[in-house]
Amino acid sequence: MTEKILITSALLYENALMHFGHLAGAYLPADCYARFERLRGNDVHYVSGSDEYGVAITLSAELAGRTPKEHVDDYHAKNSRLFEKLNFSFDHYSRTSWEGHVAPVQRIFLDLLENGYVEAKDCEELYSEEDKRFLADRYVTGTCPSCSYEKARGDECPSCGASFEATDLKNPRSKMTNAPLVLKRTRHWFLKLDMMKERLKEWIATKKWKPNVVNFVNNYIDDLHERSITRDLSWGVPVPLEEAKGKVFYVWFDAPIGYISASMEWAKSQGDEELWKKYWLDEKSKLVHFVGKDNIPFHAVIFPAMCMGQNQPIKLVDELPANEFLNLEGRKFSKSEGWTIDIDDFLTKFSVDQLRYALAANAPETQDAEFTYKDFLQRCNGDLVGKYGNLINRTLTFIHKRIGKTPKQGSLDEADKSFLAEIERLTNDVANAYQNHKLRLATHLIMELAQTGNQYFDHKKPWVLAKDESKREELETVLHNCLLCIRSLGLISSPVMPESAQKVFEMLGEKRELAKCKWDELLAEPLIGDLQEPKLLFQKLEESVIEAEEEKLKKRVVEEPEVTYEPLKETISIDDVAKVDLRVGEILFAEKLPKSKKLLRVEVSLGFEKRQIVAGIATSYEPEALIGKKAVVVANLKPAKLMGVESQGMLLAGSDGKLLELPLIDKLPPGSKIS
Ligand code: 2FM
Ligand code: ZN
Repeated sequence: MTEKILITSALLYENALMHFGHLAGAYLPADCYARFERLRGNDVHYVSGSDEYGVAITLSAELAGRTPKEHVDDYHAKNSRLFEKLNFSFDHYSRTSWEGHVAPVQRIFLDLLENGYVEAKDCEELYSEEDKRFLADRYVTGTCPSCSYEKARGDECPSCGASFEATDLKNPRSKMTNAPLVLKRTRHWFLKLDMMKERLKEWIATKKWKPNVVNFVNNYIDDLHERSITRDLSWGVPVPLEEAKGKVFYVWFDAPIGYISASMEWAKSQGDEELWKKYWLDEKSKLVHFVGKDNIPFHAVIFPAMCMGQNQPIKLVDELPANEFLNLEGRKFSKSEGWTIDIDDFLTKFSVDQLRYALAANAPETQDAEFTYKDFLQRCNGDLVGKYGNLINRTLTFIHKRIGKTPKQGSLDEADKSFLAEIERLTNDVANAYQNHKLRLATHLIMELAQTGNQYFDHKKPWVLAKDESKREELETVLHNCLLCIRSLGLISSPVMPESAQKVFEMLGEKRELAKCKWDELLAEPLIGDLQEPKLLFQKLEESVIEAEEEKLKKRVVEEPEVTYEPLKETISIDDVAKVDLRVGEILFAEKLPKSKKLLRVEVSLGFEKRQIVAGIATSYEPEALIGKKAVVVANLKPAKLMGVESQGMLLAGSDGKLLELPLIDKLPPGSKIS
């Protein structure tokens, strides 16, 4: 029976060109899955698009000296073109700035408000009188409340590593204009996710997602709290309330609704504005979100919670294939550091299918994976030329030269039967792998089938059979069976390498478009096409070409700055030093501060009293490893609040900007003076 399958790929932020990491994470696996399900005869609706709002966009646009609209228009055009070039088969690729996106976002918000899941609250935020606007964290700089470093960011201090709210900064200023900022009252709307805890838990319990996703999500739900969903910005979807004039939605509130509005835009293009409902409002359709692991909470918890709290029967996610990250030659992709590969440039030397295959074969499904040129070379030459291309080329060349037409299948011996059974088994296994989002496995099985074909060819030695006219039937049978293998190979590889698979299909004499055929029907058909002269599918790559690419990548890297030492501060007197009361403090307890990557809350004994200290050392020390250690405490420092927690002193630590170390005391008891 035909299934309705609604597939999404995480919307791409339009502030940069896409890189291989995006493709391997949320895009290529989705495209292969969509292509596979269409071949199976299912009713697939595959959408994605551009995520065009939010501070990441406005800041990047300002830095580029253009308006957010100009910025996203440019990147939307460039990235859409890349997707086309890479043969993505979206039913629709949309963008969140299209006018039809506003209505569904506002409607869902109003439903949530009416149903009591949204509440307004007054709060204080940093405001620039000069620019007449509130500034988000990323726009703010100031003096670190922990170490007094003067160029701390809005959310953390690069000098001591402390994380905090922008409102904790001393002397906060605008990063763009250096204008001073003041605290100003404002009002925001919060999604009361805590109200949905039980319902979410029950729903998650019915899901058979990957264990790491389920564990992560369950922990996340335990700690679920309300989240602000509005911002004082001018770029975004306006909040539809009189008292919220000038405010827009937080980008993560509107973005997932972008999947729905993408389908609405598609429906409009089909001349039937209601058509999106066929996929989104039918309990029987299956919703599959392809995302990177950093997007799990939004797709597994927040977006479902938003859907649960509104008034239409919007589909909740059924399957959530969340991939890990792909790195490049041992490092994270980084546009600013030049550690990336320009896709357009890459495609001047290598083919789309070589890239699609290499990324699929190395998809970061269960752990982070890496793109390396050496691996790419091996996949292209070893797999695509040595196994896949070899079988097709040697079979078709042989038939072309020696037989000239489609060979007939005669009686089968044991080796033939077991070869045909192996074709069937591997074809079915590949189907299962696609269906279960195991793209890596699918590619490995495809190559296994190609190798099985090569071994059969070697074993049967058609070049020997051809010398003996009495072996004509046997010869034709072998070649016929090889063609059956090649047809299966074309079919099962077509989701990953659509262009090459189509060429294989045409070489078999097919006039149809492979992507429009049906999996089972095709496999059941007799081989009747007029075989075409074989063409080379993949060029063998020269090592020198790959080495040149490796060199180019290294050269692109913005040279690491030489080690620079902070200039010494002004000279102070011994009296100034004497003012600082340093004591030995024994660490009794330590824990991570919720919501902070860098801060630990540490309880320290000074012998005569206990102190609570918030220290920016979480990236270098596990809390448990600190208990019982004796550190150096600045004991007469005025208490300060960090992320809302009072810090009654400071732990001394050394850092070169990367490594961070506490000087530890061995024998002295807690409370001892250090001078
Ligand atoms: O993390 C990201 O790149 C986001 N732009 C993904 C958004 S997915 C969806 F919800 F829109
Ligand atoms: Zn600091």
